Amino acid sequence: MKVIGDPQKLAKITRQISCKGKSIGFIPTMGALHPGHLSLIKQAVKDNDIVVVSIFVNPAQFGPKEDFKKYPRPLKKDLALCRKAGVDLVFLPAEKIMYPQGYSTFVEAGELGAKLCGISRPGHFGGVATVVAKLLNIVAPNILYLGQKDAQQAIIITRMIKDLNFPVKVKVMPTVRQKDGLALSSRNIYLNNEQRKQAPVLSKALSLAESLVAGGQRDAARIISRMRQLIEKKKQAKIDYVAIVDLEKLESIKKINQSCLIALAVRIGKIRLIDNTIISV
Ligand code: PAF
Repeated sequence: MKVIGDPQKLAKITRQISCKGKSIGFIPTMGALHPGHLSLIKQAVKDNDIVVVSIFVNPAQFGPKEDFKKYPRPLKKDLALCRKAGVDLVFLPAEKIMYPQGYSTFVEAGELGAKLCGISRPGHFGGVATVVAKLLNIVAPNILYLGQKDAQQAIIITRMIKDLNFPVKVKVMPTVRQKDGLALSSRNIYLNNEQRKQAPVLSKALSLAESLVAGGQRDAARIISRMRQLIEKKKQAKIDYVAIVDLEKLESIKKINQSCLIALAVRIGKIRLIDNTIISV
């Protein structure tokens, strides 16, 4: 496994690989790898000749009051996990390489980026789209792997790939969960014991929604209200949003008579967690 920090060097290697007719799978990450990332790597290893992982904590997607500085960076462990999982190339750029002095070009995520998580994290998805566009240009992969846990991110990146004509396929892989339903996230390590006990309420609320739909309930407001009631029983839980939206524009829907996304963000103490499920009708 090679670890490369220079974008030009990496781009040269990946172009040479492509010229030989080999396929490249790419997983962009901010490190602090967990089994969710490893499931994406596993799928990429299965599908492709060469697998590239990027590890870069992207400052452009953090708000001024967010956890950029204290975001976990267990680099040694991450590299060991990549090596064990069969990754061929790790792209590990420095911040000043990705955003050198004078950097001034940004991708905007438009209306999709202003909804759901974009309401409390203005600018976040523009930062995500910008770094992913840069990474796609550097790596030039055949397939990009993303996790369903970040559903809005996956929808925005898929839209950007279409809008900006990136020649890459997207594979969105299922959320990996702990036994009690908690979706794996690099931020789960911030939860203390009591918060960790309360955190599965997000997935419990989603299961409740799924069972209400399975039982014939189609009224989005009623489903949201039942989910909110369940979450509000947890002392440390503070709801950011619970929403039922369409899968393309992320607009709220009133009646569930089409496939849709049920998504929520909840603060457990100070830790903001997200989760979602797709309902196919
Ligand atoms: O999901 C993440 O870890 C990040 O948002 C991504 C896609 C690596 C961009 O920095």
